[in-house]
Amino acid sequence: MVNYMAKPKVYITRELPERGLSIIKKHFEAEVWPEYAPPPKKVIVEKVRNVEGLVSLLSDKIDSEVFNAAPKLKIVSQLAVGFDNIDIAEATKRGIYVTNTPEVLTDTTADFAWALLMAVARRVVEADKYVRTGLWRVSWHPSMLQGRDVYGATIGIVGAGRIGYAMAKRATGFNMKILFYDVIPRPEMEKDLGAKKVDLDTLFRESDFVSIHVPLMKETHHLVNRERLGLMKTTAYLINNSRGPVVDENALYEALKERRIGGAGLDVFEQEPTPLDNPLLKLDNVVVAPHISSASYETRSRMSEMVAENLVAFFEGKRPPNLVNPDVMKTHPLTK
Ligand code: GLV
Repeated sequence: MVNYMAKPKVYITRELPERGLSIIKKHFEAEVWPEYAPPPKKVIVEKVRNVEGLVSLLSDKIDSEVFNAAPKLKIVSQLAVGFDNIDIAEATKRGIYVTNTPEVLTDTTADFAWALLMAVARRVVEADKYVRTGLWRVSWHPSMLQGRDVYGATIGIVGAGRIGYAMAKRATGFNMKILFYDVIPRPEMEKDLGAKKVDLDTLFRESDFVSIHVPLMKETHHLVNRERLGLMKTTAYLINNSRGPVVDENALYEALKERRIGGAGLDVFEQEPTPLDNPLLKLDNVVVAPHISSASYETRSRMSEMVAENLVAFFEGKRPPNLVNPDVMKTHPLTK
């Protein structure tokens, strides 16, 4: 028998890993932005006109302009744990469900924060350049490319949620003293990992590595500012793979340039992609990456599957597993 029920239409702003994409294509009439670079905003606005579902990435700004153009839109399924690119209040007001992909990327993201930490402390990127540019052939010297020890040092975790916890757990393997700061009590940090809860200024003052793991909110914007950077040891490093605007980049640049802190490992920037003339890119004591902390084959594949699962559940009338704006259910309840 022919099924005349039309599949819901979904627009996907980038080619997703196959595992999730194949599920979406099976259940929905899906259109995918075919290019490697993100779609311009005007393309998104154009493409959402007729769709009931939208799959977004954090580089897509999903705001009133998009919602105004999308009278049929019912759900935004985001491929990321963070969702500061989506105007959640506006979505909720309009009865649009928003979902994300938490937990699966926790360990992958903590691994990458460690990669940045190790890279900047032990000067891995500079060492790589040293070999490739032939400097090694010119000289090997006992005092060349000296870095700082990681084992036994003090790490300060700012934001001890899932990723902060995973970061701290790895620090126990390096025999580190662990300090943490959070607005929420995190007894598991103390109980499981022997970490010590301190106020933010103490954390900045006493840590050899300050690692940022907070979401971007009004309260965390420029949480790492000139004053806090000024508290850090001259040998200490800042690691950030949360969100760029949590750190005042100008203040960070000054602190690094004047060698008031040891270095920084950054996977996120105030503006992404960061402009090539960002002065931070000129500094040797900074290791940078293009927002790839969750980019392992396994995790990205599972994230794409979660994006699909959230969509499928919703269109089956069930609560999507990773709903971030449950208030929407009050005004737009599900059928199951
Ligand atoms: C990455 O930054 C994410 O939020 O998943």
